[in-house]
Amino acid sequence: MTTMSNVRWVRSVVRGCIAGAAVWVVAAPLPAAGQAPAQPTFTKDIAPILQRSCQKCHRPNALAPMSLISYEDVRPWARSIKYRTGLRSRMGVMPPWYIEKNIGIQRFKDDWSLSDAEVATIAAWADNGAPRGNPADMPTPPPFVDVDAWEIGQPDLIVSSPSFEVKALAADWWGSLGEADTGLTEDRYVAAIEYRERNDLPRGVKSDTVGGLFVVHHAVFISFAPDDSPNDATQWPVHEVGRNADVFDEEAGQLLKAGSTLMFPSVHLHANGTDTTGRLEVGFKFHPKGYEPTRKMQLLFFGNGPDIDIRAMEDNQRMDAYFTLPENTKVSVYEPHMHAPGVRMCLEAIWGTTVETLNCSGYDHNWVRAYKYEDDAAPLLPKGTILHLTGYFNNTQTNPNVVDPRNWSGSGHRSVDNMFINLLQAIYLDDDEFEAEVAKREQKMRLTGGTDIGCLLCGAADPPANAGGSQ
Ligand code: HEC
Repeated sequence: MTTMSNVRWVRSVVRGCIAGAAVWVVAAPLPAAGQAPAQPTFTKDIAPILQRSCQKCHRPNALAPMSLISYEDVRPWARSIKYRTGLRSRMGVMPPWYIEKNIGIQRFKDDWSLSDAEVATIAAWADNGAPRGNPADMPTPPPFVDVDAWEIGQPDLIVSSPSFEVKALAADWWGSLGEADTGLTEDRYVAAIEYRERNDLPRGVKSDTVGGLFVVHHAVFISFAPDDSPNDATQWPVHEVGRNADVFDEEAGQLLKAGSTLMFPSVHLHANGTDTTGRLEVGFKFHPKGYEPTRKMQLLFFGNGPDIDIRAMEDNQRMDAYFTLPENTKVSVYEPHMHAPGVRMCLEAIWGTTVETLNCSGYDHNWVRAYKYEDDAAPLLPKGTILHLTGYFNNTQTNPNVVDPRNWSGSGHRSVDNMFINLLQAIYLDDDEFEAEVAKREQKMRLTGGTDIGCLLCGAADPPANAGGSQ
């Protein structure tokens, strides 16, 4: 199931059982009261937050509709910033990061989310009339990289898809974008990949959704070498609008073979109101020559497609799916994937009587995010662990992503159809490797006195060494 090829992944999700059609009331997590300074000012308290978590997108000609750099830029948006940051993990939150803070693992790479104290500081600042403060307190502006720069750094290889054209008011389109040669003359192991849509839309145009700046909604590509059989094709993580780059585990570089061709078998294009010509670039960052992986990256996509039954005009619709891990597993990436009515997902690990909620997260189909765990916080799950996925759907007019909530919807590729999957990335470990990883994490727990949610067997009693008893 881990090597599902090309487009089949969207359909061949595990047929998990549905635990009835229970209606679940989703309690929106309340931000805990942080310790906001009594009189926060822009220069002292707000600007540092914006520099770290907002200006990557909120600066001229970047992704976001307005710049949030100077006091003059930011002041008119004070109330709106308070509102958006106060949404925490729910749809619409800024920055777009939906991991719930009050449950599950909290340590992720490139986490730009705000702490409760920062959210409280912003709220207090906005409520106090959004004062500028002392100009001398203004932090030095961060060095900006070009807005077109790649998150993974300058790629070693950039492959462009064939170009496409989408009319201003065309219907959505699903299909294959065809093939592109990599021109690669030797096998290389890939450390990271990133997709970039390059299009001729004017820069700096205001758009209510991030999707309004692009025409590719999602794209899947596979790579195959000249003598590969169809089953040998290598599958890569999917591109989605608003999604981040993929940096693979250091020890699990993915092979891109010499002479490989990229094929884009499953692509969804949508009109955005302007005639647009574009193409998709895939940037590859390679490991140094001579690198050999010691592990294989597994795409553990699981969920439930066939049973999706989203009723009209109803909030809090719940689905469940289950998957039993065939090997000892370290999960590297948690990536909820739903469609327009999807608003929340939780992932739970069950092993014997141990049940841990690994993560819960909000979901916004405009901002599909992949969350990469810090190496020493990644779920470490023994073979036989049952992964339990819970999805929550809001098919009412209170969900702005749903075009017409009077429609029932089932499973399918279109955004008006639904999906319920987690696109986990993982590596498998043999028993010795697994025990060594658990021992490392237990050691850390002892040193820090903390807990380790993801390490299911950490602290668990060892089975009796000689059950026969030899004292
Ligand atoms: C990854 C890029 C990105 C980051 C990081 C980001 N934003 Fe945004 N922001 C956007 C985009 C794109 C939009 C418009 C689409 C949307 O609302 O999703 C937006 C919309 C907004 C809006 C609403 C604007 C309106 O027209 O009503 C506010 C307010 C906002 N962002 C504030 C922030 C703040 C404050 C931060 C940091 C704490 C932040 N954003 C971080 C990309 C980003």
